[in-house]
Amino acid sequence: TVSDQEAAFEARIDADGRIEPQDWMPEAYRKTLVRQISQHAHSEIVGMLPEGNWISRAPSLKRKAILIAKVQDEGGHGLYLYSAAETLGTSRDQMLEGLHSGKAKYSSIFNYPTLNWADVGVIGWLVDGAAIMNQIPLCRCSYGPYSRAMIRVCKEESFHQRQGYEALLVMMQGTEAQKAMVQDAVNRLWWKCLAMFGPPDSDSPHSAQGMRWGIKRISNDELRQKFIDATVPQAKVLGVTLPDPDLKWNEERQHHDYGQIDWQEFWNTVEGNGPCNKERLATRVKAHNDGQWVRDAALAYTRKQQQRAQK
Ligand code: ACO
Repeated sequence: TVSDQEAAFEARIDADGRIEPQDWMPEAYRKTLVRQISQHAHSEIVGMLPEGNWISRAPSLKRKAILIAKVQDEGGHGLYLYSAAETLGTSRDQMLEGLHSGKAKYSSIFNYPTLNWADVGVIGWLVDGAAIMNQIPLCRCSYGPYSRAMIRVCKEESFHQRQGYEALLVMMQGTEAQKAMVQDAVNRLWWKCLAMFGPPDSDSPHSAQGMRWGIKRISNDELRQKFIDATVPQAKVLGVTLPDPDLKWNEERQHHDYGQIDWQEFWNTVEGNGPCNKERLATRVKAHNDGQWVRDAALAYTRKQQQRAQK
């Protein structure tokens, strides 16, 4: 009966076991996972765009090769994650329709422009750094396919973070103009990165249930704090200032205190009104439409193979 199945599900969650695609699960658990995993997939795919803009303008062959590899990795992460969400019974077409129609969410951070080359470094250092902080706990997520996908994703994100930090270290040993570029990119992106972790726990509608089900392991605010604490010493080594006058070590808490995040600006961006939302979606929809002939050709080929097999 359903109540037996539900009890078995709850017992598995309580014992910190994994739920697999063929297992019974409550509809709300399935729905939460489809929401989170598809949003995550969309973030990886849309996340290719701000950096993709710099592939043709990378300052050297080495930087170009690194950037191409990294952007391809993000595409791969998106595909893994769509596959993980498909195991929950949602088709890729449905998920893409959600993205292309503007109904589905993706990470707010990708709706800001990349204005100079240092932005590419800062995306690696801070954006991918924040992503790793959020994704390491997802390797222990209760849904098997998602947790396993996150292991490789995190390894690749670690390379992304390091290449970004290294690119910035080199710029910070360069000319005054180069140093100013790095500081400018940090100033523009710092607060947006803090918002990547999602709203404060007190305003996060999905957190309590997500934690109860072992989908989320560490809360939005806790991860944000961990990220800040890890980043302050890195900024010092780099020689940049984090643009927050309230940022300081609190001996009693053994954490850094920090200033107010502009949540109104965050929600405005999440709701589609950030500086690049329209451009990002339009680029994504165009790429999908331009790829129609590939899907048509693949389908025609499969049909031909099936017809031949029937003869
Ligand atoms: N950008 C856009 N939307 C966000 C963001 C953000 N940074 N943070 C939260 N939201 C949305 C949530 O998706 C949710 O909207 P919904 O109800 O329409 O789905 C709403 O704000 C409320 O947030 P929460 O209740 O905190 O939602 P949740 O429990 O899902 O936590 C979080 C949000 C932390 C982003 C979680 O979904 C998560 O860990 N996702 C996987 C990681 C991920 O998506 N990373 C993508 C960026 S990293 C990268 O791609 C390089």
